Amino acid sequence: MKAIQVSEPGKLQVIEKDDPPAPGANEIKVKMKRMGICGSDIHILHGENPFATYPRIIGHEAAGEVVEAGTNTAGVGRGDKVVLEPIRYCGQCYPCRKGRPNVCESLQVYGVHLDGGGREYITVEESVVHKVNPELDWSDAALIEPFTIGAQAVYRGQVQKGDLVFIMGAGPIGLCCLKMAKEAGAAAAISDFNEKRLAFAAEWGADFLLNPQKQDVEDTITAWSEGMGANVVIDAVGTTKTLEQAVQAASAAGRVVLLGFHPEPSSITQALITKKELSICGSRLQTYRFPGVIDLFNSPTFDVKDLVSHEFPLANAAEAFSLIENNPENIRKVMLKISE
Ligand SMILES: NC(=O)c1ccc[n+]([C@@H]2O[C@H](COP(=O)([O-])OP(=O)(O)OC[C@H]3O[C@@H](n4cnc5c(N)ncnc54)[C@H](O)[C@@H]3O)[C@@H](O)[C@H]2O)c1
Ligand SMILES: [Zn+2]
Ligand SMILES: [Zn+2]
Repeated sequence: MKAIQVSEPGKLQVIEKDDPPAPGANEIKVKMKRMGICGSDIHILHGENPFATYPRIIGHEAAGEVVEAGTNTAGVGRGDKVVLEPIRYCGQCYPCRKGRPNVCESLQVYGVHLDGGGREYITVEESVVHKVNPELDWSDAALIEPFTIGAQAVYRGQVQKGDLVFIMGAGPIGLCCLKMAKEAGAAAAISDFNEKRLAFAAEWGADFLLNPQKQDVEDTITAWSEGMGANVVIDAVGTTKTLEQAVQAASAAGRVVLLGFHPEPSSITQALITKKELSICGSRLQTYRFPGVIDLFNSPTFDVKDLVSHEFPLANAAEAFSLIENNPENIRKVMLKISE
């Protein structure tokens, strides 16, 4: 079978590999159909993901069709469309016991710590996949994972109906947060330097657009919220500066949700956090968000139209990566077609 592998930092290859074994009793074998390329795949390619080891078959935004099911599987069977929930956890450690396996002490993510879904076949435990509607388009199915990231950010920020939510960054993750915040009944402002991405966010339901290269972030959000500030700020950029701006733009009793992994310290003021009694939290991967997001995707009224801007066959993976890196203003989500 063919697989997309980062053999070492800087080296992306489509390799030939043996098919995985037939499934064990609790396992299924899946023929992979689509894999979304994520910013973290680009980081793995450049050796900038602290969790990745090499060589690594990438792919954590992955959908496929079950071709064989083990004797002890019950939930999914041959012919089912499934998506990968790409985390493995111990179930024993403190975060696991607290219902937060996404930050398990021995967390392993498919496509990062473990070989992922960027290959024609994968054999995995039945428990790491979820069944989706047979009518769902393959590329849409592969969008479910990034939407769970947006769902987690909205959950961590306790977004409620009527809240004013400010999303920083209109990349794929910011757009997923936008859609999930709107689903929760919030009004949403979104920022980006890139006018094309802002225009797309407007088509996707953003109520207010802001370009931090042209407008002051705090002043503009204060004006949008009639002096209150944003009740929830979701930082889907992840720089030292955006964290500072998020704390400034949040309302009293507000929540600030951070998605980035920037290692440099930001300069934020204790008094501002205490005075407004802000809750500042990280949001990593997701906990138990797949069923809810799948219900949304299965519903005929939910629309992810045009989020996928490009689709490439697996053989042209290098071209897909270089398009994302060299042309960010013209791309949204790029999909690899792993098999027909
Ligand atoms: N925590 C998680 O589980 C998780 C999962 C996936 C991605 N992420 C992180 O989420 C972030 C966004 O991911 P993405 O794939 O959408 O990235 P992306 O690079 O495609 O999008 C980021 C967007 O932010 C814009 N931007 C840059 N600086 C800005 C600023 N100061 N203000 C407003 N906009 C600005 C860029 O123009 C770009 O459009 C990244 O930091 C990524 O590492 C986190
Ligand atoms: Zn991703
Ligand atoms: Zn654990």
